[in-house]
Amino acid sequence: MDKKRIEEMIDLAIRQMDFSYVPYSHFRVGAALLAKNGKLYTGCNIENAAFTPTNCAERTAFFKAVSEGVKEFDAICVVGGKDGFLTGYAYPCGVCRQVMMEFCDPDTFQIIVAKSKDEYKIYTLKEAFPEGFGPADLA
Ligand code: THU
Repeated sequence: MDKKRIEEMIDLAIRQMDFSYVPYSHFRVGAALLAKNGKLYTGCNIENAAFTPTNCAERTAFFKAVSEGVKEFDAICVVGGKDGFLTGYAYPCGVCRQVMMEFCDPDTFQIIVAKSKDEYKIYTLKEAFPEGFGPADLA
């Protein structure tokens, strides 16, 4: 991926953490999802007093895009940390990886986890979620 594009996605994901609604965990997560049409969809985590309705930043971004008719994606950038401090990488949870599996090609979809604009790692959905169950299994 183009370095400028990666930096743009990291910047956007970091800014999304300002919108995280995290009164329980105080763990802020931001995401920037790149659609194949070139558009970027953002997401933050949104918690709930009943806990289970909590929505992760990644799924917020996916559901915003899909709800607008966009279903093809190239990459997602995820950042997160306690009180918004990026002391480590914030890896997508299993549920979010499953949602990625629904809309993304595991061989090519890139997951970017970042600590800053200069510190990031990239891996494919297949690396993050090997032997995943997806739409092809029901075809
Ligand atoms: N969280 C995300 O937003 N994305 C993930 O992939 C992992 C976890 C959120 C959910 C919850 O608001 C907080 O991080 C602590 O689990």
